[in-house]
Amino acid sequence: MLCLSLMEDSIEKNLATFKKYQRNIDIVELRLDMLEDPLEIHPSAIREMFSVPIIITFRRCIDGGNFGGSEKYRNSVLNEFAKIKFDYIDLEIDTNFTEVESQAHSLGIQIIRSYHNFKNVPANLESIIRSLSSRSGEIPKAAVFPVNSMDALKLFTVTDSIKDIKQKIIIGMGEYGIPSRILYKKLGSMLSFCSIKDKSAAPGQLSPEEMIYLYHVKKINMATMVFGIIGNPVMHSLSPELHNAAYERAGINAVYIPFQVDNIGAFFQLAVLLDISGFSVTIPHKIEILDFLDLKSQEINSIKSCNTVFKQDRLWKGYNTDFKGFLSPLLPLIADLKLEKCAVIGAGGAARAVISALQSINLNVTLFNRSRDNGVKLAMETGASFYPLSNIQGLNEFKLIVQTTSVGMYPFVNKTPVPEYHFHAGQIVYDIIYNPEKTKLLIEAEKDGAIIINGLQMLKAQGIIQFEIFTGQPFPFEGQKENS
Ligand code: ATR
Repeated sequence: MLCLSLMEDSIEKNLATFKKYQRNIDIVELRLDMLEDPLEIHPSAIREMFSVPIIITFRRCIDGGNFGGSEKYRNSVLNEFAKIKFDYIDLEIDTNFTEVESQAHSLGIQIIRSYHNFKNVPANLESIIRSLSSRSGEIPKAAVFPVNSMDALKLFTVTDSIKDIKQKIIIGMGEYGIPSRILYKKLGSMLSFCSIKDKSAAPGQLSPEEMIYLYHVKKINMATMVFGIIGNPVMHSLSPELHNAAYERAGINAVYIPFQVDNIGAFFQLAVLLDISGFSVTIPHKIEILDFLDLKSQEINSIKSCNTVFKQDRLWKGYNTDFKGFLSPLLPLIADLKLEKCAVIGAGGAARAVISALQSINLNVTLFNRSRDNGVKLAMETGASFYPLSNIQGLNEFKLIVQTTSVGMYPFVNKTPVPEYHFHAGQIVYDIIYNPEKTKLLIEAEKDGAIIINGLQMLKAQGIIQFEIFTGQPFPFEGQKENS
């Protein structure tokens, strides 16, 4: 079930929110702690207002809620609600409101017994959930906060080992927990929460729009193939939009989700556990991932950077689709220029792929990098020339300049790797960053009269090739295919 947490300060506002999404929402959670006065409207009238099952929750501040008052008051309010036949009442692991509980039992209201941990995924999570589930007639709920990839792995490992507990709610909060919110059915969680933007009920909670229209969670079932993108940070990625829309259009039962990853080894274990079929790789993992691959496609051997991993016969095979994706928007612009050379800023994994692509169209590359060591190393390995970035006026010689560092990427949108440089008309400036669509560097280059290319078209083009690797099918949006 998809549950909408109602977080407004009045029942009227909550009702308006519910009505907006009711076609796609199975159940609501009424958060009494957010209401100005939880008893302003009689609970029986509230019950009548909503056409779906309701969870009544009165969350204390210490459990991530908004109620800082007395337990006596909380008990008395919940008592009023327990007299009306709501569907569920959420009571925390240490809440002991005997009257509320016996009222609820006598009316057939199910108690959700909740455990919250905002610090991590505790080592004894399984025993906590098992002890909650041993309470007769209650549904165990655990909301924990994975703070790294190992924690995320722990959470998914526990959910795998408690498959025998039929009714339960498991939530991973924060960015590392997002896959658990999207894949809740695969985890055996009876529901997943969502809440409207800026009124999030818990860290990492997605909006109804994201759950319904981006990740299509209502269509996810045990047979759904899981794809995704690993990175750190990763939540800004636009790839989920491209891939999920394409699966939907092509009628493929698959979902593509962001995985925040700080430990590639732990992610691979997670990938086996979740039966992930393939994934995209972004900053900062494109080079380190090479050590984890079983097979490498031909281009990986020269580029030494991998942005696509696909499982074939239980073996992980790496590809690089950045190469073709990068050239796609550039080729039409330089077709008539008879360019012989170009400049590349940066010496990381992205630079390596870009240099390889530029050399494949017979351009001599000069690499500008902040640190001499990294710059010289990549220049030697690729046969490029090297300039230190401090020698920025050296860029004047070049009609094509490609920016490959992450400087200027969201959220550091006011940064540029070349703050002192002035571009000029006749230059083509290509920044492979796609968020923001126009980086500070591109804004300045455009002001200076240069032609600019942003990373969005590159992203789309490389994503289209990825889609074809992942699904074995042509990309279903014809217009975009022609651009690639
Ligand atoms: P990726 O593999 O995605 O390209 P990376 O390996 O982290 O990412 O590459 C980062 C590149 O951005 C490097 O060339 C780095 O320069 P150094 O070799 O000197 O570290 C460059 N970079 C990062 N921050 C920078 C900054 N503030 N100014 C200039 N270059 C920067």
